[in-house]
Amino acid sequence: MAFGGFTGENDLVTKRRVPKPSELREILRPKPIKLNPTERRLANAHTIADLRAIARRRTPRAVFDYTDGAAELEDSLRRARQAFRNVEFHPNVLRGVADVDTSRDILGQRSALPFALAPTGFTRMMNHEGESAVARVAQRENIPYALSTMGTTSIEDVAAAAPAARKWFQLYVWRDHGAGQELMQRAHESGYDTLLLTVDTSVAGARMRDVRNGLTIPPSLTLRTFLDGATHPAWWFNLLTTEPLTFASLTSFGGTVAELINKLFDPTLNFDDLAWVRETWPGKLVVKGIQNPDDARDVVKYGADAVLLSNHGGRQLDRAPTPLELLPSTLDSVNGEAEVWVDTGILSGGDIVAALARGATTCLVGRAYLYGLMAGGERGVQRCVDILLADLQPSHATVR
Ligand SMILES: Cc1cc2nc3c(=O)[nH]c(=O)nc-3n(C[C@H](O)[C@H](O)[C@H](O)COP(=O)(O)O)c2cc1C
Repeated sequence: MAFGGFTGENDLVTKRRVPKPSELREILRPKPIKLNPTERRLANAHTIADLRAIARRRTPRAVFDYTDGAAELEDSLRRARQAFRNVEFHPNVLRGVADVDTSRDILGQRSALPFALAPTGFTRMMNHEGESAVARVAQRENIPYALSTMGTTSIEDVAAAAPAARKWFQLYVWRDHGAGQELMQRAHESGYDTLLLTVDTSVAGARMRDVRNGLTIPPSLTLRTFLDGATHPAWWFNLLTTEPLTFASLTSFGGTVAELINKLFDPTLNFDDLAWVRETWPGKLVVKGIQNPDDARDVVKYGADAVLLSNHGGRQLDRAPTPLELLPSTLDSVNGEAEVWVDTGILSGGDIVAALARGATTCLVGRAYLYGLMAGGERGVQRCVDILLADLQPSHATVR
């Protein structure tokens, strides 16, 4: 039967009928209503860029910029991201890809996914749920999480929040070596199996957004931040009604990040310190922040089990080498005696595949999960991991 009233020219040849109610019922599938406002918000995020956009709206500018920004002109970060996007995949077809194994051995232990969550300082500033939320997601997904020396939750509290997670500890060497020794001991006693020694932060990077925003840690109440409270009331409410934002590893400090680094961190950091850390730390050791193949070979001679090619997410030296591009020469110089890892610039599962295809054992993601954290606490970090997993394993994707 043809509908009356239609005059399009195809109606002369197209036979039409009235759909049966049962047919309509079949295609009418309203999306389940999410009562939780955070979940509603996150349901609209299908890429890490989407999470970043939500994070930007939900977080005071100085905090968002601290996370999102990098040093000087931010070229190190921009180039690192671009390098990943420049990689071209050359797929083989007719190989059967119904079952994709995303698991990976990382320093002798199986990880369900081929990446880890990078150490980031001041995580409770991004969202009050902080490091514990990130560790819980790592536990749920069976991937490693590295707690930073500059963390805002203690070594022991993170261990208690996610007892079954594979936990790593990131160490900065301070002028006071005794403090570092104590941190290593506490991390070891709390079940952290791997130490990431960061070696690219002898002096503070010039992070211009922080300078312009006048960011202090903890954030101080100035006229500007007070006015910002009006536009981000939830963030300020959470900051002021949860444990004060102090460092877990050091007594409180009320200055800028650069002042903090320059006051506490040891600018004389050298290979003797690496030897000292190797002697002191009984677990696996990763040297984080390697930026040339010769240094990679040397730290392996000093006992590193893995080298992490990284320019600290572009937050230290601008115009630094692009970690992804250092992979081939570093693999040559290390010659199979240690694992070679990479970070800086990873924003998608495709980037992770690119890192592995170039020979990295694993890679670390930093900002990607912090965008998730700012967008929606633990749920947001979970969303980030789900997005990366959906990229890696499209046939199992539930996110999109
Ligand atoms: C907000 C923020 C804080 C960071 N804090 C630390 C830290 O305390 N220790 C450290 O070794 N690296 C730190 N990093 C660097 C990360 O561990 C990692 O190298 C970097 O984020 C990777 O780049 P990506 O953000 O592009 O993934 C931080 C990075 C960010 C974005």
